[in-house]
Amino acid sequence: MASESWMKTQAPDPTNLPAEINPEVPSIARVYDYFLGGKDNFPADRAAAAAVEKVFPQGKQLGRESRMLLRRATRELVRAGVRQFLDIGSGLPTAGNVHEIAHEIDPEVRVVYIDNDPVVLAHGRALLADEVTTTVVQADLRHPDGIFDNPEVRALLDFDQPVAVFLASILHHFDDSDDPWALSRKIRDRISSGSYMLITHFYDSGDPVCREVEQALLEGGLGSGWFRTKEQIERFFEGMDVLEPGVVAANEWRPDAETPTDSTTHHLLAGGLARKP
Ligand SMILES: C[S@@+](CC[C@H](N)C(=O)[O-])C[C@H]1O[C@@H](n2cnc3c(N)ncnc32)[C@H](O)[C@@H]1O
Repeated sequence: MASESWMKTQAPDPTNLPAEINPEVPSIARVYDYFLGGKDNFPADRAAAAAVEKVFPQGKQLGRESRMLLRRATRELVRAGVRQFLDIGSGLPTAGNVHEIAHEIDPEVRVVYIDNDPVVLAHGRALLADEVTTTVVQADLRHPDGIFDNPEVRALLDFDQPVAVFLASILHHFDDSDDPWALSRKIRDRISSGSYMLITHFYDSGDPVCREVEQALLEGGLGSGWFRTKEQIERFFEGMDVLEPGVVAANEWRPDAETPTDSTTHHLLAGGLARKP
């Protein structure tokens, strides 16, 4: 099968791809993969990334710091007793995925990855073939009910019990006119009391570089990536209790011994964790 042979190559061969993958159009998952140092990206993705690097050469550092926040949150949530995770817009598998971090503490933790990009599904299925507590499902955040009612999702997750929903670096790919706040509200309504929602989001800290990066994302090929203020990001948690330290710059969110304290980039991304009362 084209998809299988493609997955086994180190760098993808654009002439041997499943039909649903168009290497000519940059994809969010593949551009992000580039920033995380991955190999699953094409020239069009690297061109979109280069437009960002032109105004913000430290894009890879920001990508790393964003993943570090995700890992800290995963550990904290497992330690707090959460045993189910729904990671929406999970991206291409990278080192230290949510299930790997969670399973270091408890191998019974169940994790469902959701992404609408067929590349993520192909890689995820290959990576998770032997996993019984973790799966990846192709679905779209634009239709939250389609995620919560999906039989494959429900086979692993019990939404009558607390779950941690991750919306990490995905809501900033929705324009205001798409009303991403309605999406987080819908998710809040579908999860049980005691559930959590983690959001990371491009952060408009007032630094002019935010608008420059936004412009590069919008006009450099990718076509999405909006920076929002702390207040706009806090609104995603409507009806939930935002936990300490609130919505803050990436490395200020519950830093641990490995969190860089001298970062000049982390204020481009904010993170926050809330609990449904
Ligand atoms: C920037 S990546 C973030 C990956 C990961 N959550 C992280 O923070 O490291 C955003 C991911 O969201 C996915 N995505 C974008 N729009 C989506 C949608 N409408 N439904 C599901 N996934 C989506 C992309 O394919 C991509 O893999």
